[in-house]
Amino acid sequence: MGCCCSRRFFEEENGTVRYQLINGRRYHNLSSSVYFLANDDEEVYRLSRYHNAIKDIWVGLFHSPVEEKLRQGARVIDIGCGSGIWILDVARQYPNSNFVGIDISPILPTEGLPSNVTFIQYNVLDGLPFEDSSFDLVHQKFMVCAFTEVQWEEKVIPELIRLTRPDGWIEILEADAILISDGTVTRRIAKAFHDFLVSKGINPSIGKEIPRIFENSNMFSEIKHRQKTIKLGKRHGESGEETLRFCISGLSSARGTLSTSMNLMPEHYDALIETMIIETEKCSTDFIQHRICAHKRI
Ligand SMILES: C[S@@+](CC[C@H](N)C(=O)[O-])C[C@H]1O[C@@H](n2cnc3c(N)ncnc32)[C@H](O)[C@@H]1O
Repeated sequence: MGCCCSRRFFEEENGTVRYQLINGRRYHNLSSSVYFLANDDEEVYRLSRYHNAIKDIWVGLFHSPVEEKLRQGARVIDIGCGSGIWILDVARQYPNSNFVGIDISPILPTEGLPSNVTFIQYNVLDGLPFEDSSFDLVHQKFMVCAFTEVQWEEKVIPELIRLTRPDGWIEILEADAILISDGTVTRRIAKAFHDFLVSKGINPSIGKEIPRIFENSNMFSEIKHRQKTIKLGKRHGESGEETLRFCISGLSSARGTLSTSMNLMPEHYDALIETMIIETEKCSTDFIQHRICAHKRI
């Protein structure tokens, strides 16, 4: 089946290409970033909707022991904050603390922000515009598709460590990008997704490597790693239903590039995903997530 996609580029007045529309979804167009998910309103809705499910699945907004510091007044940064919903939720509960959300995409909230929240559009790979040791809590969630494995090791994790104060915490909630399933269609999509990620230098299971990378830096006095398997589908309750919705809308967000790499027409790609949803009700499909909390040495 041949691929046929509609692609349009949108330029600034100076001729820089700002973003591209592929089959009706908007994507960034920065050669410095491998990130390939959409950055439009539909994606903002996907990320915001899953926020509440994640709070239930992991019981709370964070696991690092920083509650007391946050009550008294701390500085927190969320890198790749997406819709900003995590930062806004924590900021409302801790009015004495200050919060910064960073994202490469122009999807950050701009109106009605609490006075203790700032959002900045920035590429973390360029190095963030903050002094060393600026934050008590450095938080990052669901960035597996944003960086190559080399970028994680050489740029991202060193930058997170640089920004964290001694006695501060880094907390990363990450997902394995590849679903584990015994369904034929789901396995076909998972295999294609895996090959696509590897071709870009992305490690689909970087979450389980993060504790080792932290360990090797020798900058932490404590590293905690918890792994959870979330079973997809309605029969596994609200978390299963919401997680299925999140994964399916993620595949739809990746359609611009993934349908091309699978050499599929967009309609055929969508039909495969519909079949995957039906299959999930009969087959077992697992989504693995990792939570890593690391305490920086004093
Ligand atoms: C899957 S979303 C996760 C968003 C948010 N952390 C959440 O859990 O809802 C990944 C986010 O990373 C952002 N991103 C990708 N590459 C980035 C980079 N190099 N610097 C900053 N943000 C980046 C994307 O724009 C997107 O909003």
